[in-house]
Amino acid sequence: MHSKQRNTRRRFLSYLVGSGATTVAVSWMWPATSVAQDIDLEELCLKYPYNALCEDYLPGVAALDESDSPYEAAAILSTAQAGDRLPAEGLSEKAYLVIEEGPAIADYAISAVCPHLGCTVDWNSTEQKFICPCHGSQFDETGDVSRGPASSALSLVTVVVKDDQVRLVDRAYTPDRS
Ligand code: FES
Repeated sequence: MHSKQRNTRRRFLSYLVGSGATTVAVSWMWPATSVAQDIDLEELCLKYPYNALCEDYLPGVAALDESDSPYEAAAILSTAQAGDRLPAEGLSEKAYLVIEEGPAIADYAISAVCPHLGCTVDWNSTEQKFICPCHGSQFDETGDVSRGPASSALSLVTVVVKDDQVRLVDRAYTPDRS
């Protein structure tokens, strides 16, 4: 092997070693780089929606109306009234958006899955309650059970309204029901 070739090879090997050392040094000096990649934005942005990392982040999935179009918050609020329950698809199970006084879209939706045996409950706007078509369980407008055989409330789903979008987040919501 010519000395020129050896020198080139040596320079190349030292470049590789140097690169590795540089990478290790950078990782050591700025561990936040890898930490930032590991951050669960869903978790972070639900807790700290005004964090700089969350500026452009939309959590969850779009809530879809009965024609599979994404709900638009302004459009909902131009027609909805407090007490309305709007069916929303998007997650694996149907849920109902809750319209509060204002009107405003509540930060939770009511799951349509009956806790008895899993049928999908219907919202009866006249009686202001959810009724299960399978065995007749009934739930009030907040999802609390009012008639069996179901023995527990409908579960709640987290809702985030951002940039005129209504997002369903597959994450339990625990309200103060006291
Ligand atoms: S599945 Fe709803 S009452 Fe049985």
